[in-house]
Amino acid sequence: MTTKENVLDYLEKRKGQPVSGGFMARELGVSRNAVWKAINSLRKEGHEISGGSGIGYTLSEESDLLSEAGIGGHLRKRTDLLVFESIDSTNNEAKRLAIGSPKTPLLIVSGEQTQGRGRLGRTFYSPADTGLYMSFLLKPAIKMSEASFLTIAASVAVTKAIENVTGITCGIKWVNDIYVGDKKVCGILTEAVAGIESGNLDYVIVGIGVNCHPASFPPEAGSNPGYIKEGTPRNLLAAEIANEFLPLVESMDKESILDYYRDHCIVIGKSIRIFKQGAGEQAENGASATAIGIDDSGRLIVKYPDGSTSHLSSGEISVREART
Ligand code: BTN
Repeated sequence: MTTKENVLDYLEKRKGQPVSGGFMARELGVSRNAVWKAINSLRKEGHEISGGSGIGYTLSEESDLLSEAGIGGHLRKRTDLLVFESIDSTNNEAKRLAIGSPKTPLLIVSGEQTQGRGRLGRTFYSPADTGLYMSFLLKPAIKMSEASFLTIAASVAVTKAIENVTGITCGIKWVNDIYVGDKKVCGILTEAVAGIESGNLDYVIVGIGVNCHPASFPPEAGSNPGYIKEGTPRNLLAAEIANEFLPLVESMDKESILDYYRDHCIVIGKSIRIFKQGAGEQAENGASATAIGIDDSGRLIVKYPDGSTSHLSSGEISVREART
């Protein structure tokens, strides 16, 4: 780590507390001048550091610039991590990196995406400063048919992480949207990198986009976008998502993942419309049905007005009315 990274790491671990420049210099084994230069450079990058020599330096509790030190300091297990201020798409970056056979799991985080992608070929609105955009590059020992469980595990992990960090209870709309009340605050896009010849699943990329702070959402941001709450600490949330998600990937304990998912699924018991749609296709007028459960493969069980049922593994649904 560079001196600047070390200084940020040091301050992150003591966020909100004044730290003497001289003491920090001794602890980090660098000169006071090097600490001073690092502080100046961090301030220029936008980190909110108050104080000065004599009174100590304090990284503001409200400072919310994403950084490796800021996220890494909260990770329960050391994880390879890359943090960008802005990037085209963290899922794209994961795909590019996959070519070089990197160590996995690898977490890629950005404070902005210029070409954020959503499901079904849609754009995912990813403005600077208000959201958290992250992708896990994984090499899980699972079959292609099980990959959808990673999306479910990610929904569970994000829901738990938001609750751990903010106390807010979220709902999961099948299959991969997280809601606070009736507003979507997070979407998940899982993509596979498969060997063309072997047909094996080489890597899986789980991309997660969370709207954290208030933003003015343009029409392309979807039908009902929302945000978690003002002041949501993005570094902590990113780490907490990893802390919840990576153990689930390791254990792949489908039963407990599904239990949590079913408990938090907001569509069960509701009247819905089903839109079967491929990338780039126009949605057809949806068939009406009632969502009656989630099966053991994570598929949505629906009942049609004629009494017949089916198990849906993909597609879009819209909820028509509140549960009675
Ligand atoms: C959706 O709601 O349709 C899924 C949105 C997924 C967005 C995330 S943000 C991080 C990662 N990079 C992307 O380009 N997309 C995913």
